Order: sequence, then structure tokens, then C-alpha cells
Amino acid sequence: MAYSIKFHVLTLFPEIPRAFFTSSIMAKAVQKEIIAYDLVNIRDFALDAHKTCDDSPYGGGAGQLLLAEPIEKALYSLKLRKKRVIYMTPSGKPFTQNYAKELSKEKNLVILCGRYEGIDQRIIDSYVDDEISIGDYVLSSGEVAANVLIDAVYRLVDGVIRQESLEEESYTNNLLEYPQYTRPEVFNDMRVPEVLLSGHHKNIAQWRQKMRLIKTLKNRPDLIAKARSEGCLSKEDEKMIEQIYIGEQDGPNKNN
Ligand code: ADE
Repeated sequence: MAYSIKFHVLTLFPEIPRAFFTSSIMAKAVQKEIIAYDLVNIRDFALDAHKTCDDSPYGGGAGQLLLAEPIEKALYSLKLRKKRVIYMTPSGKPFTQNYAKELSKEKNLVILCGRYEGIDQRIIDSYVDDEISIGDYVLSSGEVAANVLIDAVYRLVDGVIRQESLEEESYTNNLLEYPQYTRPEVFNDMRVPEVLLSGHHKNIAQWRQKMRLIKTLKNRPDLIAKARSEGCLSKEDEKMIEQIYIGEQDGPNKNN
């Protein structure tokens, strides 16, 4: 068992997560045996000859629910004593970068994908550790939500991506990422900011921090308040925020 984390995806549509596990950086991480995966088709555990996996809800209402029995059998087939079972649902807890970090430390993550109107509540009550939503909108497929969760989690596992890449990206310290530029120096009359060509590391770091603050104030002001309450903003950051407001009389949203 060399892997750092194994994703066990319980689904009626294994082709959706399979495409993700067999592409790009994820495929390399699997090949390096850092990440392992197991796609379990819930339909293989249906009780009848028609392979029925859903039925209408007691009490009436629209849509179909996934049956409890095939899901329970699929869970038992994993033969795992220690595991964390996640159910992807729009009525779950909000998924965040910190949640992804926490999950990246697990050895066996079981991800249950719903379809239709959801699953029988007794599966949630008996087996699910976390109900997770990836955002305030409804997808037709828990598999797409599962791919999002798996992507956010696996890239935080040691050895998948260079540590430096993770340290500077959005949501680190509750701030969004600074803008980046590559060749050419001039594109459609727009020059790369001079400071980035200066080779002056301290100035570059200061400029980038200021840009992170500007971007966060503009796109996600709620994160500034969060960063402040969690002690992520230094005295220099607070000074920069003041300067940003003074520099832009109407505040950072004036162009909106
Ligand atoms: N299934 C359908 N919509 C979802 C969402 N927003 N998050 C997680 N799972 C879902």
C-alpha cells in the first residue's frame, strides 16, 4: 500500500471520474503510486434482474431517489475498516480550501455520488461522515461535484505538485492570487509591470502582495474580513489596504 491517499468513488456513471483519473497531472500521480483510485459501480450491487437503483420517494414528490440497499452493498464491497465517507450534495457543508487540506490527510476517502433527487436518508444517517456541497447551485450529477472535490484534494498531497506552487496560489492566507505575466514584454500595447523586470526580489514581493490585496478587495471583500479575523494580515498589509483606498477615492470597485 504505497499510495498516500486512495479515492473510492461510488457512482452510477464511473466514466465521469475515470476520465479525470486517467488524464494529465492526476494520471501521473496515479502512475507514481502517490494516488490510488477505485471506481465502484453502484449498479453492480442492484438487487433485481433489471439492476434497479432508484425509486420514487415515500410521501410523494418529484423525481427518483437512489435505493439504500445497493449503496450499502457497494460500501461493504470496499472491505475498509478505516475510511471517511463523503456524500456529494447541494445541501451539504460548503467545500473550501481548508476543507480540501483536511481531506488530503486521509488515507481512504470514499465519495458517494448522488443522481436524481438524492439518496435514501438512512444511508446518510448510517454511513456518511461528511455531506459536502461545492457551491450554491444544483448540478444534475454528483460525479461532476466529486471530480471537483477530488481535484482540490489530490493536488495538496505531498509529491503531486511543487510546494512553492501551492504557497502562492489563491486562498493561501485567505487572499486571492496576484496577476502573472509571461513573454512577450509588450502585448497589444500593454507592458508587463516594470517591477517584474527589475530583478529586485523584495520590491517584487511587495508589489505582488499589494496586487493580492487589490484583487481580493475587488472580487472577494468578504475574504479580507476573514483574513483579518484569522490574523492573516500584517501591519504592512493594513497600511497597503489604506493606501489602496486613498489611491482609489471610490474604493477598489470603482470600475464595476
Ligand atoms: N450534486 C448536485 N449539486 C451539487 C453541489 N452543488 N455540490 C455537491 N454535490 C452536488
